[in-house]
Amino acid sequence: MEYTISILPQKDRQVKETRSIPFGQQPTEHMFIAEYYDGQWHDSRIIPFADLTMSPFALCLHYGQTVFEGMKAFQMQDGKINIFRPEKHYDRFLKSLARMCMPEVPKGLFIEALHQLVQLDAAWLPKEADGSLYLRPFMIASEERLGVKVADKYIFMIVCTPAYQYYAKPLKVKVETDHVRAADGGTGFAKCGGNYGGAFYPTQLAREAGYDQVIWTDSKTNEYIEESGTMNVMFAIDGAIVTPPLSGTILDGVTRDSLLTLAKDNNIPIDVKRIKWKEIEDALIAGKRVEAFGVGTAAVVAPIETISISGKHYACYLGNDAVMNKLQNALYNIRRGIDPDKHNWNYIL
Ligand SMILES: Cc1ncc(COP(=O)(O)O)c(C=O)c1O
Repeated sequence: MEYTISILPQKDRQVKETRSIPFGQQPTEHMFIAEYYDGQWHDSRIIPFADLTMSPFALCLHYGQTVFEGMKAFQMQDGKINIFRPEKHYDRFLKSLARMCMPEVPKGLFIEALHQLVQLDAAWLPKEADGSLYLRPFMIASEERLGVKVADKYIFMIVCTPAYQYYAKPLKVKVETDHVRAADGGTGFAKCGGNYGGAFYPTQLAREAGYDQVIWTDSKTNEYIEESGTMNVMFAIDGAIVTPPLSGTILDGVTRDSLLTLAKDNNIPIDVKRIKWKEIEDALIAGKRVEAFGVGTAAVVAPIETISISGKHYACYLGNDAVMNKLQNALYNIRRGIDPDKHNWNYIL
């Protein structure tokens, strides 16, 4: 089914030079918006980027019914534009919405809105090798009411921002055993706002202690590794990838899935299993070659330089021949149209 999206372009178009602007501070010129009421989506439109007006009674401001996605568009080597795996992001969006009692957005509308918006703001997509256009679909509960309830009015929007390399250097991380991000039966697998708000305090404490990020552990024993900040975590121990399985407490990362698939394609051994931080510590003490890295849309592959476990700091492997570099290059080459897209991940405009 096709969706009608009205487009009201900005009058005086002006694309800014954005490399020097930190991530997430510069919107492109347009945004997509649609409103949900009476059980349906209405008035799908692309309009000049602008502030929203809403009632201070809007339910999202009080009870946290908010869900978002994060994906990227890339300039390919032939000059075309590629949105990477929008359908996989859509599937995750639906799972998050269901967990938060929020209405589905039809797939056709989601994809068409992304397509039209990226096309209109294509001039904002950085052309450099580390450049991309970050796309942020999100939904918030807009019904005006102070009573605690599931809203019956929502706003679905997409905004975009130019993006470059996310972390300037390899990370120092701490295995977090005092605080948890998510518990079984909770919302850990959903990309809902509250998961991020709740993670700030422990992350802030870690930053004050000199770390860039925490690696979360499970809520029952604090012995098993979960994920990190806005990334899934992977290790390569003597060349074999080890990463925790999907569960109710970690996000089903699109980058994680893509890199595991590429590891299989490249005959890199993979072990998807629950991992105790003790196992990583033992491997480091035994002098094995341990790579540790975060994987996610924003950072793509973020190498971890030191990992701190119970106050002890261990150096991880960062050499040029690291497995993580191989995987990152393989992903880059598919997204840019340099290597064939045999898994049909690219949505080319
Ligand atoms: C908590 C969390 N884990 C993992 C990820 C990585 O997911 P993806 O690769 O889909 O960006 C993200 C980013 O979206 C995240 O916010």
